[in-house]
Amino acid sequence: MKQVSYEGLTFEPYITRDTIDARIKELGKDITRDCAGKTPLFVCVLNGAFPFASDLFRACENLPAEIAFIRLKSYEGTGSTGVVKEMLGLTEDIEGRTVIVVEDIVDTGHTIARLIENLKEKNPAEIKVATLLFKPEALEEKDVHPDYVGFSIPKKFIIGFGLDLNGMARNLNDIYILKED
Ligand code: IMP
Ligand code: MG
Repeated sequence: MKQVSYEGLTFEPYITRDTIDARIKELGKDITRDCAGKTPLFVCVLNGAFPFASDLFRACENLPAEIAFIRLKSYEGTGSTGVVKEMLGLTEDIEGRTVIVVEDIVDTGHTIARLIENLKEKNPAEIKVATLLFKPEALEEKDVHPDYVGFSIPKKFIIGFGLDLNGMARNLNDIYILKED
């Protein structure tokens, strides 16, 4: 693996695809165990979570489960805008169901907090959060506690495996971190 560049910024290898794959399989086992007897609805938060959701959903193949998609946006460039816009709503009836929100990353936690608020109005039985990445030091929403975390990472900007810089780099198979010099 080598360094990659986007918009004049250099990123270095951080988490390999193999490591990501192995971790997602573990999360799949945890969710399958915890959801025994339930039929959860996975809610993939587009755009960033789609590679993670695709792998995580299939890592739960022994669970009767459904998947739906929602689109939100809260980021521009490498810093949070602090504004969360819902782009595309959920059409599924989630009343009385176990919902597993699948996110690419929880940074300040504003996006997930806002989404959980919206979902609660639809009276699900419970809402769980699965996130591939979590930046505990960046968390501003004290009520946000992701239930399933792939990797806890420092407060640095990363790309790849769904995570973007202004829409680019989502198709990188590995995760890269912004190089500081
Ligand atoms: P939050 O609302 O601050 O938790 O931000 C959540 C959203 O910001 C994520 O779903 C990502 O789209 C984006 N984001 C946060 N940190 C990063 C990063 O390091 N790289 C790329 N996108 C990020
Ligand atoms: Mg996102």
